[in-house]
Amino acid sequence: MTRNTEQTPAWTALKAHAQDMKHVHMRTLFDEDPDRFGMFSRRVGSILFDFSKNRITDTTMDLLLALAKERGVDEGIAAMFAGERINVTENRAVLHTALRNRSDRPVVLDGRDVMVDVRAVWEKMRDFTQMVREGVWTGYTGKAITDVVNIGIGGSDLGPKMATMALAHYSHPRMRFHFVSNVDGTHLATTLQDLSPETTLFLVASKTFTTQETMTNAWSARNWLLDHAGDTQAVARHFVAMSTNQQGVQDFGIDPDNMFVFWDWVGGRYSLWSAIGLSIALSIGMDGFEELLQGAYEIDEHFRTAALVDNVPVIMGLLGIWYRNFMGAQSQAILPYDQYLERFPAYLQQADMESNGKSVTREGERVASQTGPILWGEPGTNGQHAFYQLLHQGTTLVPCDFLAPAHSLHPLGDHHEKLLANFFAQTEALMRGRTLDEAKAELASQGLSPLEIEKLAPHKVFPGNRPSNSLLFERLDPQTLGSLIALYEHKIFVQGWIWGINSFDQMGVELGKELAGRILPELVQDEPVMVHDSSTNGLINYWKKLRRK
Ligand code: F6P
Repeated sequence: MTRNTEQTPAWTALKAHAQDMKHVHMRTLFDEDPDRFGMFSRRVGSILFDFSKNRITDTTMDLLLALAKERGVDEGIAAMFAGERINVTENRAVLHTALRNRSDRPVVLDGRDVMVDVRAVWEKMRDFTQMVREGVWTGYTGKAITDVVNIGIGGSDLGPKMATMALAHYSHPRMRFHFVSNVDGTHLATTLQDLSPETTLFLVASKTFTTQETMTNAWSARNWLLDHAGDTQAVARHFVAMSTNQQGVQDFGIDPDNMFVFWDWVGGRYSLWSAIGLSIALSIGMDGFEELLQGAYEIDEHFRTAALVDNVPVIMGLLGIWYRNFMGAQSQAILPYDQYLERFPAYLQQADMESNGKSVTREGERVASQTGPILWGEPGTNGQHAFYQLLHQGTTLVPCDFLAPAHSLHPLGDHHEKLLANFFAQTEALMRGRTLDEAKAELASQGLSPLEIEKLAPHKVFPGNRPSNSLLFERLDPQTLGSLIALYEHKIFVQGWIWGINSFDQMGVELGKELAGRILPELVQDEPVMVHDSSTNGLINYWKKLRRK
């Protein structure tokens, strides 16, 4: 494999090809080829992936696929599934796929089949979730659990929260789910204010069990419980932990029987499939959780075995590279037309930006190309009335992913038809745009004078040629959600692999954490702080003054 992405023949050819493509409008491409949709769409499981509204031709795809080959994407996929230590900086395997391996195939790491441990945790999760859901597991006064509070942050929050919200339709009717992540006391306080300690179960979710925010919230939650229960024995009825750190869990005072383990080969942002997903399993039941795993497993199998040309995550990754590296796009919008997927963009932000927000290669050299984009988004149609203006007429190219279910889980009048009409219309408008002549004709048909038409028409022009992918699926159920998440996980992998970066560490979040650790004791000292730059000193000392008031 060539060491630097930018030195591959395909990269050079793509650069030249991009110059040609800058002058090609997608309108023309659609006019020239009536079967463009057939050519540039794929089906995987219950998901249709339409990528025909992209600024691509056969040549573009051939070159992108050549890039994937030259960068050894095939080998990368095989290495990940085989448990090679591709997280080179932490010397770890990357095996979240083992967590949803629904086959009998062993996954051997250091001579041991990790599936034995994975299955044991599934069983423990099944027993526990059944007891809680059936009301057999009770709080310290014998009452059934009504409220579950997941305390975690980053991957120990975003995934479980996004999935629990996405699958709320399938949730247990007696139970409500809450997620506390921020160390801002407001988050815990406002969550607990309506809850009863007698019927609240806390799930302390932390891979390391050392994360400041989570530990602070967990101790405060424990104090809240004990303020009411009085007896520390209540902790065993109200606290469980999901972690890789057995000692940390024990030191916190959580019964080892109430601990659900996972392993260092599960990255935090890839951990919703592990015991970290306990809130999801409590909400939809273990059968539902296994359907979620099944959906991801089907994508894993597709990713592992499909030829690159038909491999949906590979195509998604390559299209992202096309815009990021050859068309100058800096961001990527995620636009779910499903209210239940409200947190999907926020979840993908961590998955993508923590994975591919890197600027050195796996070998520690500075990358020469751009890497991960900024991810953002909101559910449609809300976004249409907020930021779509910029998508349509702004000066920035923003590739968009549109996601929608064919069936609504809440059929209500013609709401769903209206929702989907917007979904289809937006992708069409972004692609086609509106020419000056079309704008003028429309204004003329409204009876405007020639002078008014001249004045207004430029504002009514839409350049179009703005790319989008459409992911249309049957309905939002656990299996489909599992598939959607896995598609994006593997897309991120493909991009990271091509850029030659390590998508599986997150060292960029550490400096801020370290400095916060140093500053915390300074905040309680009486004397002014002088050890930082003048801005940081000034801010801290100003705050100290305010606090004394
Ligand atoms: O933000 C950094 C990070 O390490 C994330 O990668 C992780 O998901 C989050 O903190 C929480 O970590 P933990 O699960 O160990 O509490």
